[in-house]
Amino acid sequence: MALPITGTTVKQQHLDWAAAGSLLAGLPGGALNLGHEAVDRHVAEGRGERVALTFLGRRYERKTLTYAQLADATSRAAQVLLDLGVQPGDTVAVLLGRTSELYLAALGSWKAGAVFCPLFGAFGPGPLKSRLELARAKVLIATEPLYQRKIAALRGSLPDLQHVLLVGEDGAAPAPHDGCADFNALVAAAQPASIVETNAQSPAFVHFTSGTTGTPKGALHNHGAVLSHLVTGRQVFDLTAADVYWCTADPGWITNTAYALVSPLVNGCMSVVDEAEFDPRRWYGVLKDEKVTVWYTTPTNIRMMMRYGAALARIYRENSLRLAASVGEPLNPEAVAWGDKALGAPFLDTWWQTETGAIAIANLPGHAKPGSMGLPLPGVEAAVVNRNLSKIEVLTEIDAVGELALKADLPSLFTAYVGDANRYQASFCEGWYLTGDLVRRDADGFFWFVGRSDDMIKSAGHTIGPFEIECTLMDHPAVAEIGVVGRPDLLLREVPVAFVSLNPGFEPGEALRLELLYFARQELGSALAPREILFVEAMPKTTTGKILRRALKAKALAEPEEDQPVTLAVAPGRFDDE
Ligand code: WTA
Repeated sequence: MALPITGTTVKQQHLDWAAAGSLLAGLPGGALNLGHEAVDRHVAEGRGERVALTFLGRRYERKTLTYAQLADATSRAAQVLLDLGVQPGDTVAVLLGRTSELYLAALGSWKAGAVFCPLFGAFGPGPLKSRLELARAKVLIATEPLYQRKIAALRGSLPDLQHVLLVGEDGAAPAPHDGCADFNALVAAAQPASIVETNAQSPAFVHFTSGTTGTPKGALHNHGAVLSHLVTGRQVFDLTAADVYWCTADPGWITNTAYALVSPLVNGCMSVVDEAEFDPRRWYGVLKDEKVTVWYTTPTNIRMMMRYGAALARIYRENSLRLAASVGEPLNPEAVAWGDKALGAPFLDTWWQTETGAIAIANLPGHAKPGSMGLPLPGVEAAVVNRNLSKIEVLTEIDAVGELALKADLPSLFTAYVGDANRYQASFCEGWYLTGDLVRRDADGFFWFVGRSDDMIKSAGHTIGPFEIECTLMDHPAVAEIGVVGRPDLLLREVPVAFVSLNPGFEPGEALRLELLYFARQELGSALAPREILFVEAMPKTTTGKILRRALKAKALAEPEEDQPVTLAVAPGRFDDE
């Protein structure tokens, strides 16, 4: 069925969300369940024998699941959760890689009426603990090594966490651990559950993102978000059952939940799920050998592929790609052109946020401006605004810079920050959701990213809050004051660097610098730890005593190359702690 769109050009088009609702299958009595929409509906409508997922293990072990097999396995996973006493609305946290268990955990949670909460495996114990606490996770499904290294020691301080289910290396049975069970064994032994009745307003998933305080924000989304995932999959990627789709996002990032898990499945296509991290030869090989037609990745990944040069790309020039897209940070025009030259498909930049739950602004084939975020999708009303206390002024002048606001009627828009009603309310004004991004709109209606209105750092596409890093490092006895800022980086866009002033009795020097880097890495994990520590005598402050981040940013930029201290050897964009 076609999307209910009116208007002739993309700029004029309007999508009727209420009419679009009829694209969903639904369940008797007005019920709506993400698991049903993504998987079981295809089986009920006679498409059960189609391949839904092709998994590639680290050593290229290959496993496929049809929609019928996925429906069965995820209903068993739901029964496992129900047998543990999971109630509608309970949170199931997940620390898994891009493996079949991630799909069972997500879809099993939705079928059981639970809230799926995936976490970054590259976070350290501190950030993981605060997220598990805020989400009040009742169940954790984790790989054995991640559990052992990051959670086992915290277990006693997480009273809400009642059950831990483990997955061994490469899907093997985990060794026995106190208070843990074998996830795959339980799934194999369970009967398929009937889907628990949920509706469009029932909570379905929560993703944490960094905020302007030390506490992360848990953006909650409802089952009704599936309509946005269905619609945007068609609007942006033109997904059909004929497509082979590949999204490279980390499971902890909402891009994975929305566009690796939900969108390709609800649109009935086949997804490739590659467990391995970035490797240029491997990635070109996956694109070519798996005959990927639609690819969704990040600017950092694209720039890393560009670094390996045109000669390598040429070997793989004969591929099946018809569309490639990116998200997470601005995509430079050179990368768009490179995609066209090297892969035969230009990269289309898309814009969205954890809070929006789905793509809101995008470049589309035939309607693209390299370097821009694109046009609002039909069904999305976007404006450039100024917020004055509780009033919104919409800026209509061409190229005026202001905050990007979206009309708060998107099915995928977040419905709460868990445990923080005030913060949630403060994100809305006069029916608009305020994104915190500064943008301008050109004469053709294209949006251009200008920056953030707050101090968030963007590194390899990931949003890092300086405050969480600062709070953690303040726990080190040497640290008197600390300010973390993003320093521009050609590959990663920014890297977090920390300026530190010391308490009496501590001397700046190489030994202390390494100690602090190690401390940060241990506590925060590689995804959040600052890459550099720079000592300052006194912190630059505003007249009201706040750390002057602007001055620190200038200092970070001015730091001469040879004085730059040791940077921890982390492969760019590769966020794992192995
Ligand atoms: C930034 C990502 C420029 C922006 C799904 C946004 C972008 C934040 C783009 C959300 C883009 C995302 N151009 N900036 N195409 N896409 N951003 O929540 O600042 O991890 O607010 O979700 O990334 O990051 P988040």
